[in-house]
Amino acid sequence: MRKKIVAGNWKMNKSLSQGLQLVDEIIAATSDSPSNSVLKIIAPPFTHLASVHEKIKTISGFSVAAQNCHHMSNGAYTGEVSSEMIHSTGTSYVIIGHSERRQYFGESDSLLAQKVNLALTNNLIPIFCIGENGEERKTNQHLEVVKKQLKEALFHLSPPDFSKLIIAYEPVWAIGTGVTATSHQAQGMHNYIRSEINKKYGKEISENTSILYGGSCNPQNAQELFACLDVDGGLIGGASLKAADFVSIINSFAN
Ligand code: 13P
Repeated sequence: MRKKIVAGNWKMNKSLSQGLQLVDEIIAATSDSPSNSVLKIIAPPFTHLASVHEKIKTISGFSVAAQNCHHMSNGAYTGEVSSEMIHSTGTSYVIIGHSERRQYFGESDSLLAQKVNLALTNNLIPIFCIGENGEERKTNQHLEVVKKQLKEALFHLSPPDFSKLIIAYEPVWAIGTGVTATSHQAQGMHNYIRSEINKKYGKEISENTSILYGGSCNPQNAQELFACLDVDGGLIGGASLKAADFVSIINSFAN
């Protein structure tokens, strides 16, 4: 059975002390909440990974993710961080292919495929982001765009490797805009993604792949989105920066 997951992508926010305080607040607020079946992933900046891991390592149901990794294993790449280094901090997951990386850092699907390969080699589980922009949605190209991203970045993987992945559908027009996909739009796309995985890898793998929704997900809309058959949780940006909002989203599963 696929996992229910709520992941908080802090992006470039929070000093180390602010971040650790937020983690303490999230842990306290979930200790007696009905969220035991939900895997809670925290994705702070690189500088905070080891300290956040230290805080959550004895608390069940929590894990840490990096927000990016480099596409080469090591060497003269000043300022970059490798999958092996990330794994050595106790981190288990890594977000790859976020639209902000694609947009601001020019990351292509072929580069992202290299990142995915190295992450898996170093025992990190990729949370791989796909999604169309506003223009592509308006002109009805969203299914083709997502299909191409899956094909070019992920469909070279062997079935055992693919089955480790988490997919996040994040329509670019919904990220940080306050405009959320409707539950109808989210379910439509998640179902399409699962059907493409089914075509390539078969029913068992497609049914067991967790597909998260991301883009202006908040305490008001999470319950309706998470109730969709093919939505297995959320990748949360802005609302993951406040413990009360993040925990309320986590608890949307249990309501
Ligand atoms: P917002 O929740 O702020 O829209 O961000 C979503 C996101 O990009 C998560 O990775």
